[in-house]
Amino acid sequence: MPLPGISGNNNRTRVFRGQGALSHLEEILPHYKNILIVIDRDAFHPCGAAEYFKLLEEKLAGRCTFHYVSYAGKALPIEDVEGKYLEVKQYGELDLITAIGGGTVIDLAKILAIAYSNACESAADVLASPSLDNRVDLLFIPTTAGTGSEATTFAVVYKDKVKYSIDRPGLLPAYTILDPLLLRSLPAPVLHATVLDALAQAIEAIWARASTAEAKQYAQNAVRLILDNIESQNPIERLSQLQEASHLAGKAINITRTTLPHSISYPLTSHFGVPHGIAVFLTLPGAAELNYYTTGENVQAGVSPADVEKSFALLFSLFEVEDIKALRERLSSVIVRLGFSMRLRNYGIGEADLSLIVDYAFTKGRIDNNPRQASRDDVLNILKEII
Ligand SMILES: [Fe+2]
Repeated sequence: MPLPGISGNNNRTRVFRGQGALSHLEEILPHYKNILIVIDRDAFHPCGAAEYFKLLEEKLAGRCTFHYVSYAGKALPIEDVEGKYLEVKQYGELDLITAIGGGTVIDLAKILAIAYSNACESAADVLASPSLDNRVDLLFIPTTAGTGSEATTFAVVYKDKVKYSIDRPGLLPAYTILDPLLLRSLPAPVLHATVLDALAQAIEAIWARASTAEAKQYAQNAVRLILDNIESQNPIERLSQLQEASHLAGKAINITRTTLPHSISYPLTSHFGVPHGIAVFLTLPGAAELNYYTTGENVQAGVSPADVEKSFALLFSLFEVEDIKALRERLSSVIVRLGFSMRLRNYGIGEADLSLIVDYAFTKGRIDNNPRQASRDDVLNILKEII
């Protein structure tokens, strides 16, 4: 069941798509005067956006003022948001907050937007006060094909290495630009890790306790687009379809939220630096098998074993497999074919680290959204299988 007030906002965003869609900024920006642009320090120049924004700034001189905040971190600690918020406070009255980058940069812009529009003393106030929502227009331009953060009402931030999800209806942007040309300079491992995130999000949206028919539709379209295009030889078409898949997976999890693999992934990222998409996908095959064997005894409240069976029938058909063993193998082969190891030890994680991971793996709102109740032993077994 969708959370109240969330799914109804799904169609509020105006989305501009396709090669060169970035040029729609020339129509959008003149409606605003004082614009904050949150950029990914490492991607802004290589993706070609820096040059375009420079031209745009000259063209709109006298009408718009651009203020830049640049960020380069991978997981977002609240201390970093705090530092960036001090910069934002100097820029006077903002009427548009734009983010151009991956999920972390978009999440940073979301938290800054809530803090800014409520004149918070510090960015940590956003974590402490769930009633604070964003009231400034947002424009998100993803430069990866993964998180779908441009399509969700939530943002992830870490405090003392513990993951917090901020979830506010006002975080859906007024505009999104999906321009595949911005993804051309992404190194293959970065693109592939973000695609794994999108694929995991789509799969989790299908089996999530909170799944709906609408979410399943977005999710199955995302899975099909990824499987059909991941090995396409047409580079721009491939990027365009993967970007669309990521957006659809974002819309799916905006309704459902994520489940067990995302819950286990957070300590893998915050304690061991495993990139988000890989961290999620490592435990996805094991979580799939665990969830497949859901019974009346271990099913989560609000779901029935028959619902879980239907979700797996859909997954078997999407992945063109006959049974759970073949699905598990197929999922493991996806991560390996994209160039990553399925073994925790290749990410610097040993047997002695597993109990720490289990300690941090039970994220509220994620673990209880898994269709099957998962115990410490279940999580430990999933991890041991991939050590
Ligand atoms: Fe994710």
